[in-house]
Amino acid sequence: MSSSPGSMGSSPDAQSSSPDAVGSPPGSVRSSPADSGTPSAGWVLTGWGTALPEKVVTNDDLASYLDTSDAWIAERTGIRERHVGGTTAELAAAAGAAAIERAGRRAEEVDFVILCTTTPDQMVPATSADVAHRLGTTGGAMDLNAACAGFVYGVVVASSMLQAGLRRVLLVGADTLSRITDWDDRGTAVLFADGAGAVLLERSETATGLLGWDLGVDGSARPLLYCDHGGYMHMDGREVFRRAVRVMVSSGRTAMERAGTTADEVALCVPHQANLRIVEAANARLGIPMSRTALVMDRTGNTSAASIPLALADAADTGRLSPGDKVLLCGFGAGMTWASAVIEWHG
Ligand code: ACO
Repeated sequence: MSSSPGSMGSSPDAQSSSPDAVGSPPGSVRSSPADSGTPSAGWVLTGWGTALPEKVVTNDDLASYLDTSDAWIAERTGIRERHVGGTTAELAAAAGAAAIERAGRRAEEVDFVILCTTTPDQMVPATSADVAHRLGTTGGAMDLNAACAGFVYGVVVASSMLQAGLRRVLLVGADTLSRITDWDDRGTAVLFADGAGAVLLERSETATGLLGWDLGVDGSARPLLYCDHGGYMHMDGREVFRRAVRVMVSSGRTAMERAGTTADEVALCVPHQANLRIVEAANARLGIPMSRTALVMDRTGNTSAASIPLALADAADTGRLSPGDKVLLCGFGAGMTWASAVIEWHG
């Protein structure tokens, strides 16, 4: 029987779980057909797309009314300009539609939409329902909030869904942080912005897709970065910086170890685009040179859950990825959350 959405119990993969998979440590993906002797589902990334609001706010724009300067922002963060505007659903749907189109698929062929966001457009209903409506998908949709680590959490969740029998999952990272940013606070206004990035993951009986992963949270870190209902983002920038470097290094190492790979074998690192200095410090410790690191923060600022798919799409669009490449995704965010995944590129 061929696999179809909702047919978990009767799919070949549901019947073929090998006994040793039960004892696998979390993060170690044991889906190699060669190991089990039976087909085991992974995925291929078949499409990607992005969306950025038209309005661009430069560092000079901010310096025109804040006590800051282009030089300070560029030097301390790596950010030169950012896009601001739109709603989370608008941006997510635009990026999602582009990903579906690039994959040569129709919206009706998408079984599930995961919208990773920390800025839903309203409390109820989930913003993913609006995104599904705009796209014309009906298979299922949900929001996932793990702040700036959200997209990498989403990669792991989508992989589980594809292993459970779904054929195609649209994974979107979209945020409109400008709506919860105090534009008079120079400590945060220079960082945050809006955007969306999406990928279409399609079930495959031959490819692995997700090679290894690590997810984590330290909920005691709430005071370092939070936004209450109706309020603005509050951040202890220095402490977030310190912890971000720490978790990116430990989580990135764990994901690579579980994927059975090393920094030398990683073709490209796609980190959360929060601050260039955070990425430089973390990647130096991870042993991944900046020449093998995807960066878009100079043009996008910190777009939270959108930042990793925006950088991944940019790398794909500029020919930096080849089939078979191992790509390390590394995110961290409010919570504090962190997440790393080693994926295999097939786009
Ligand atoms: N322009 C000019 N001066 C500034 C600005 C600014 N925009 N912001 C702060 N300063 C000043 C400070 O007041 C301080 O002045 P002082 O020495 O007279 O006290 C000085 O610059 C240095 O301040 P620091 O806070 O030490 O500056 P730092 O180098 O740490 O940079 C920054 C600040 C950019 C916020 C950095 O700490 C950072 O990027 N932290 C991580 C933030 C982050 O990644 N957040 C996102 C998390 S992901 C999520 O979930 C959204």
